[in-house]
Amino acid sequence: MNTMSSTTINQVQAPEEKVMPVTEKKPEDTVLEEGVTVGTPFADDPKFKLRDVEVFYGESRAIKKISLDIARNEVIAFIGPSGCGKSTFLRCLNRMNDSIDICRVKGGLLLDGQDIYDPKRDVVELRARVGMVFQKPNPFPKSIYDNVAYGPRIHGLANRKSELDDIVESSLRKAGLWNEVKDRLDAMATGMSGGQQQRLCIARTIAVSPEVVLMDEPCSALDPIATAKVEELIAELSESFTIVIVTHSMQQAARVSNRTAYFHLGHLVEVNETSKVFTTPEHELTESYISGRFG
Ligand SMILES: Nc1ncnc2c1ncn2[C@@H]1O[C@H](COP(=O)(O)OP(=O)(O)O)[C@@H](O)[C@H]1O
Ligand SMILES: [Mg+2]
Repeated sequence: MNTMSSTTINQVQAPEEKVMPVTEKKPEDTVLEEGVTVGTPFADDPKFKLRDVEVFYGESRAIKKISLDIARNEVIAFIGPSGCGKSTFLRCLNRMNDSIDICRVKGGLLLDGQDIYDPKRDVVELRARVGMVFQKPNPFPKSIYDNVAYGPRIHGLANRKSELDDIVESSLRKAGLWNEVKDRLDAMATGMSGGQQQRLCIARTIAVSPEVVLMDEPCSALDPIATAKVEELIAELSESFTIVIVTHSMQQAARVSNRTAYFHLGHLVEVNETSKVFTTPEHELTESYISGRFG
């Protein structure tokens, strides 16, 4: 018998299959103190300074007094069980929650020291600076070229066709897609594979030269090969952008991020260097989550 096979099976055992001993204290019994985050949530000269952030959907409070700094040019991963507020918190960073009628955001949210929620702020300009890539690739029903040229056209970033061509090419190159599409830029984007569509959406986001890219589970609809390509791309992009990525995959967080933030029921429980979070987490809830006891 091949002894490798049992090892392999153990390694791929799904977290859900682990049974918690009845004597153990249940993670859900832990009482969380509002506004308290263990680890290193703060940074010097941060890109985002977020203080006592609360988010309400009608009467229900989805984010409970979270304070966090996001450093310049870091990749920070948001992890935690479903429904704990990762997407809600992420959407505060470029006011994507504005489109949800019942949603209200409170607290201090600064981008480069300036209030993100200042009523005088130009939200279109904010979203060009803080771009977003969604879970499901959402290319426009236009050509590959027009998808990438869309933002630069709206923001008047090119004066001549040749300038626009250059932006489209360099964005597609940065997104690792140029060689695959350079001979069919006029083809419909919706005809591409899922992984290509997601990289196209990343190219579209970076075409307006954002400072920050927010990604909400960008690989959850992709196969492992397309996921690997997007992760490679995140590593390259992190040289020039600040990246905030929500991910369901702890392996992905471990591979791509510098710091990891663990969310639980609307609280930010722990923020630490990613290697620390996955080896010696400080909080018992983080420990429970990464060891697969819930989630
Ligand atoms: N558009 C919405 N309207 C009302 N409640 C919402 C809306 N979006 C999210 N919520 C609620 O806010 C909480 C956090 O959700 P979400 O931010 O999507 O969590 P996560 O991304 O961690 O899965 C959940 O209780 C969810 O039901
Ligand atoms: Mg989410």
